[in-house]
Amino acid sequence: MCMTTRDTAMTHPHIRAFLFDLDGVITDTAEFHYLAWKKLAAEEGIPFSRGEADAMRGLSRRDSLRVLLNGRPVAEETAQSWMLRKNDYYLQMLEQLTPDSLLPGVRRLLSEARDAGIHLAVASASRNAHLVLDRLGVLPLFDAVGDGHSVVNPKPAPDLFLWTAGRLNANPRQAVIFEDARAGVDAALAGGFWVVGIGSAVTSERAHIHVSDLSDVTVTSIVRGLTVLSD
Ligand code: G6P
Ligand code: MG
Repeated sequence: MCMTTRDTAMTHPHIRAFLFDLDGVITDTAEFHYLAWKKLAAEEGIPFSRGEADAMRGLSRRDSLRVLLNGRPVAEETAQSWMLRKNDYYLQMLEQLTPDSLLPGVRRLLSEARDAGIHLAVASASRNAHLVLDRLGVLPLFDAVGDGHSVVNPKPAPDLFLWTAGRLNANPRQAVIFEDARAGVDAALAGGFWVVGIGSAVTSERAHIHVSDLSDVTVTSIVRGLTVLSD
């Protein structure tokens, strides 16, 4: 794993909370979202590529459809039925999900953070977040879950992170967000949070720390990385 930190000066962090995005951070359901949209797009004859799927990361179901349509007008009734159909495909794929579907390092990092007294939450735009966490068997590990039902304004607005951090009694400067999506990194920065960007869809210029995945990330490496920024 390669870890890079952004070169800016900031105040010394006292970290009380970790907030995890779900799809693409805790488990690889970002791939299922992609495959479900791809199936719908193929059936409707709409061009759809991995690049567009990356742009959909972190976006609400409605905003993802907007990306897919790329300006093509559709009636509201059609939009509703397409979102429902995509979700049906996605739900079918979720049946494959088991506790083995956690991404590398996630279970270890969660238990290490808990032992260090850090409060844990999931903050995901997905309306299926509880179902996914339940299938992964990790729902009891989190003190709070913010999902696609929690706030009105989706990412890149900071509302979901602020709402979820509030459930943990943490202010943004005491909380680290783990995100694989541009919209999520932007939301975290807009809320004044520390951000760990994960994977190739986000850049190290935007996130305070950037990692390829969570396999080698520890509580110490995060706090150390943020302290370097505070010097
Ligand atoms: C996550 C994913 C997005 C997805 C959104 C809504 O944030 O990154 O790709 O569109 O959740 O998911 P849902 O399960 O409600 O359709
Ligand atoms: Mg994500």
